[in-house]
Amino acid sequence: MTPESPPTVQQLLAFYLESGVDCALSDEPVNRLSDPDLMPAAREAAPAQPAVRSLPAAAATTPAPRAEPAAPEAAIRSAREAARTAPSLEALRALMETFDGCALKSTATRLVFADGNPSARIMFVGEAPGREEDLEGLPFVGRSGKLLDRMMAAIGLDRSSAYIANVIPWRPPGNRTPTPQETQICLPFIQRQIELVNPDVLVTLGNPSTQTLLSTREGIMKTRGRWFDYDTGTRKIRALATFHPAYLLRSPSYKKMAWLDLRAIAKALEQAKPQSS
Ligand code: URA
Repeated sequence: MTPESPPTVQQLLAFYLESGVDCALSDEPVNRLSDPDLMPAAREAAPAQPAVRSLPAAAATTPAPRAEPAAPEAAIRSAREAARTAPSLEALRALMETFDGCALKSTATRLVFADGNPSARIMFVGEAPGREEDLEGLPFVGRSGKLLDRMMAAIGLDRSSAYIANVIPWRPPGNRTPTPQETQICLPFIQRQIELVNPDVLVTLGNPSTQTLLSTREGIMKTRGRWFDYDTGTRKIRALATFHPAYLLRSPSYKKMAWLDLRAIAKALEQAKPQSS
């Protein structure tokens, strides 16, 4: 048998891309299996190291490790304090641009803050930006965004009458699931964003956004189509959970249920309409 020829660089890169590996975290590869210092288990089991250690001469030539992000508790605290002080959406965006407490920021291309009308009566919140969103700096511009646009159009909405954001404003590398710490660090920002937009209706798209914002542990199959009260601290906003458009692209049979949710949203908007005198 003739052995298969090794893949070309192009084939290998195409394979990585297909698998969701589409950005490099550093210039040099790191073999995490060969360096006990980098193994999480070893690190956890090891006694705490002093912050500054003298290194053997040979180690001095190896590249310095990447700066560790602030401990999650400190980062959550500083995100809360920063978000609380933002008097407007512009101020919130500006302080998120300079916030360094979330490690996702260092691998993302840019902040994906929001799209749409900040005075809208309805706000949609997804999970986190994907590749296209990261490149454009706008939420929901890829395939699932096109479906979200069609869903909104079905009830007479578009990006001039709705506001769109994500729980996580920086793209996780390779579209991996954000860690609970990353979500907790970003939570004060989206909470403040919701408070500042102050919509009549909030729509959480998919499980992560629903569980994070509506403080439920139930899955989307149970929560979709249900109304919740979202408490900003100063006001309760009606909130509805529905499927994430990316999920509907994979499972189109659930579009029927999503349509019921959209009709419920349209009705709620109608009911909340300010009476013209
Ligand atoms: N999925 C999300 O949750 N948000 C986006 O912005 C794009 C895809």
